[in-house]
Amino acid sequence: MPVTSRGPDFSLNTDFTRLVGVRFPIMNAGMGWVSLPKMVAAVSNAGGLGMLGAGVQPPSVVAEQIREIRALTDKPFGINCPLALPNAVENARLALLEEVPVINYSMGRGDWIAEAAARYGGKTIASVNSVKLAQSAEQRGADAVIATGFEAAGHAGEIGTFVLLQRLREVLTIPIVAAGGVASGAGLVGALALGASAVSLGTRFAVSAESTWHDNFKQTALGKDVHDTLVSEKFGGSPNRLMRTPQAEKILASQLNPISAFLYSFKIARQMDVSYLKLAADTLRQGPKRAFDMLSMASMQRYNRLSFEGDVTKGTIHAGQSVGLLHDVPDSADIIRRILSEAEETMARLNRTFAG
Ligand SMILES: Cc1cc2nc3c(=O)[nH]c(=O)nc-3n(C[C@H](O)[C@H](O)[C@H](O)COP(=O)(O)O)c2cc1C
Repeated sequence: MPVTSRGPDFSLNTDFTRLVGVRFPIMNAGMGWVSLPKMVAAVSNAGGLGMLGAGVQPPSVVAEQIREIRALTDKPFGINCPLALPNAVENARLALLEEVPVINYSMGRGDWIAEAAARYGGKTIASVNSVKLAQSAEQRGADAVIATGFEAAGHAGEIGTFVLLQRLREVLTIPIVAAGGVASGAGLVGALALGASAVSLGTRFAVSAESTWHDNFKQTALGKDVHDTLVSEKFGGSPNRLMRTPQAEKILASQLNPISAFLYSFKIARQMDVSYLKLAADTLRQGPKRAFDMLSMASMQRYNRLSFEGDVTKGTIHAGQSVGLLHDVPDSADIIRRILSEAEETMARLNRTFAG
């Protein structure tokens, strides 16, 4: 089926598409519990880069998911590992062993991943939200960075995507993927114009047919505007952007209850299949601030779980400002097709403008 009016052989050529071997400079963000094999394969089969969200899942589960992806697509795909979270380092090791084509790491140093991936021709992409982190990722061997702006769901930085992209283009030589606020073809064209070589979309793909979000939340998202997210350190330690829900507003107005968070963290350790003692020792070794952040994250996990049961009152869920740009729940492959045809329309409009 033709992807756009340009026909089935149409592709876009950027240093990102060349780096990872895909037709289009579009990827779904790796989202723990949300971007699972069906979405990954749909995005990769449509010519983008599908990204598995390993989250805090046990390696045995992630190994099965990698097998599932490989059964569904023969195209390049990647895996996102948030290194500061439990199970993530183990999942990155597993990805190296499995020779996953692209490893996207966040929340930690990835030099050892870059070094090991290079041996089998694998590529590494570091998620960053500041100039300092981006420069450090390039120096430590990352093949590309995902520049995450203030608009983004989750660990949004302080700087908006518009400014961050232009500044990173000044200081980096490796490809930059724009993340935060991109949900359309105009967003793709804008990001490319500002120095990006690709875009990564989280919230857009979270509201798709293949996303594991409960239908209640997909429908809730469609009623939200661009103002309907909240960002706070109270949502798990470092600043985190969530959809504005009754529970998110309640958490914002209250203080963390360390006892109930501590008790809940036992349950989480069991669900993640990690030893509680190991989890506690690893956390304490990183200092009191980190221990407090982990308790805060543990307490957020329970509300995140409730969102997967469809509880829109007590559940919390990550969402970026681009939630206000979404008006339907398409298939992931349709998202790619739509972005490409919108990008063509945008380019035609710009050409008309510049033609005077
Ligand atoms: C539901 C959801 C879950 C996410 N989970 C992760 C994650 O596990 N790891 C990660 O690095 N980023 C995660 N993110 C953040 C995305 O990687 C990305 O930075 C962000 O979604 C980009 O902004 P956008 O939502 O405006 O597209 C998540 C985002 C969403 C919407």
